[in-house]
Amino acid sequence: MTMTHDGAKRTRNKRLLQWVEEIAGLCNPDRIHWCDGSQAEYDRLCEEMVQKGTFIRLNPKKRPNSFLARSHPTDVARVEDRTYICSEKQENAGPTNNWMEPQKMRGILLELFEGCMRGRTMYVIPFSMGPIGSHISHIGVEISDSAYVAANQRIMTRMGQAALDALGPDGDFVPCVHSIGAPLQPHQKDTVWPCNDTKYITHFPETREIWSFGSGYGGNALLGKKCFALRIASVMARDQGWLAEHMLILGVESPAGEKTYVSAAFPSACGKTNFAMLIPPKALDGWKVTTIGDDIAWIKPGADGRFYAINPEAGYFGVAPGTNMDSNPNAMLTLKENCIYSNVALTDDGDVWWEGMTKEPPAHLIDWKGNDWTPGSGTPAAHPNARFTAPAQQCPSIDPNWEDPNGVPISAFIFGGRISKNFPLVLQAYDWEHGVYLAATMGSEATAAAVGQAGMRRDPMAMLPFCGYNMADYWKHWLRIGRQRVATPPLVFRVNWFRKDDKGKFIWPGYGENMRALKWVVDRCRGRARGVESPLGWVPPFEELVLDGIEFSKDRFYEIMNIDRERAQQEANDQEELFTRFGDHLPREMEIERELLLSRLYHSPTVWDLRSASAT
Ligand code: OXD
Ligand code: MN
Repeated sequence: MTMTHDGAKRTRNKRLLQWVEEIAGLCNPDRIHWCDGSQAEYDRLCEEMVQKGTFIRLNPKKRPNSFLARSHPTDVARVEDRTYICSEKQENAGPTNNWMEPQKMRGILLELFEGCMRGRTMYVIPFSMGPIGSHISHIGVEISDSAYVAANQRIMTRMGQAALDALGPDGDFVPCVHSIGAPLQPHQKDTVWPCNDTKYITHFPETREIWSFGSGYGGNALLGKKCFALRIASVMARDQGWLAEHMLILGVESPAGEKTYVSAAFPSACGKTNFAMLIPPKALDGWKVTTIGDDIAWIKPGADGRFYAINPEAGYFGVAPGTNMDSNPNAMLTLKENCIYSNVALTDDGDVWWEGMTKEPPAHLIDWKGNDWTPGSGTPAAHPNARFTAPAQQCPSIDPNWEDPNGVPISAFIFGGRISKNFPLVLQAYDWEHGVYLAATMGSEATAAAVGQAGMRRDPMAMLPFCGYNMADYWKHWLRIGRQRVATPPLVFRVNWFRKDDKGKFIWPGYGENMRALKWVVDRCRGRARGVESPLGWVPPFEELVLDGIEFSKDRFYEIMNIDRERAQQEANDQEELFTRFGDHLPREMEIERELLLSRLYHSPTVWDLRSASAT
């Protein structure tokens, strides 16, 4: 039975209209709503959610036009163990992804989706990842039975009629099917956060489809983000000769007004949003950082032989806890209005709060589960993965070119991790291949807790949970694209803000002070810094890192830069385990770079000391 809806009035794209009929026939919603993306529609969706109890309207004097949602306590984060890449062949998903045969997964999904939207509205949510009309952008359409998803997508993407118009009658789109998996029987009372214990976040790279079931939270449900803009887009990028990366994009403006754009990848919990919105310290007066994006970069080769990047998103879906006026003033100012908060705490005067927002917690709160909370409660008031959804254009540091359809030219790639020992503050790769190797072997130290032994949790290019195909083939793609598609590939850097001293204290102050390392990156790109060759890469000599305005002695500088040979050899040896997992897929360059590193270390002093290396 076909259901009446205004699809035909909204688009002439036959494939889209047919697909909507097909999904409606499968899921049996009560009604279909095509999202137009207007403010009036957004306001109506939010008001309906307030009526249902899914949204709490915050005090308009404190947070105008902003809402709080509390999820079901079991539905609070991305579910990586329920995330699948369903390529025809298992080896194309590779050893780092969950895989299931597409036919088998389709069988499971068809059963789960059958009638799953009964009693609910099916929202058709057209969106553009990237500025409408940009040749770097792509269109997706999400079908979802969650109003929360529709509202969030209006902030996170360019959503609505404009995306449909850009799609046109013949345009291509990535179909994204989402259901919370909670059909309603007639007269059944709804809950404020319906979801299903069974969850599947599935991707079909060959047919470029996404199907997500059971969760309404974040990356599980806002399918434009991790599912499309990274997992499916990484496959499109491989096939079409571009890059879809888990990277922020920022601009550095020198006192003379010279602009340099860099793109940077950090694993989760390394302060990526803070870095994207960094405010330089006083000692670097006149330098400015502007924000293009905080999470994802789509990067395509330009006609002039450089890479150009856009932020495919239009909003920030950031982790709230830890964000405050010291760690990230630009984020705090972005949050002043028009935001959706998920799983933060509610203050008595109708504002939001989370751990770390203020030094002193309020005397009383309602916590993320809806219970009374006091500082003595012994549980966090906000969930550690509590989020804000905020419009990007509200960010005070937003770059004037952030919506440039041509993107911004990228001069450097920066890769970071969380390493407490032996990894310098900043270093530059010798060349492109070495850079890809440094990115492929990055990671964060695992905590000693569960496994009993501290090791490295490898997170190549910060893409471990986000690469939609075999990670080793992805490295091959990186190696090729830097050589074949651009005249001069960007310089590649590794940074590490997290080195600790013998007393276990962080050596580097971090946050805005990271500008000092970033300035050296820019100086290298501009040919202004000479650098010193270390066994790991080029590093700044003491005089090339601006250190005034902080208490950071020369000795401290050498402490953070020096390289202990034995530890570095150990690390290089450990990388073998990562590489062997990929068998024949591993590009030869990776193993060659590892061997080269080992031989450089073999010939280096027991402690490679930048002080003496700089003197020679
Ligand atoms: C994110 C993540 O939520 O990387 O952005 O996990
Ligand atoms: Mn991310």
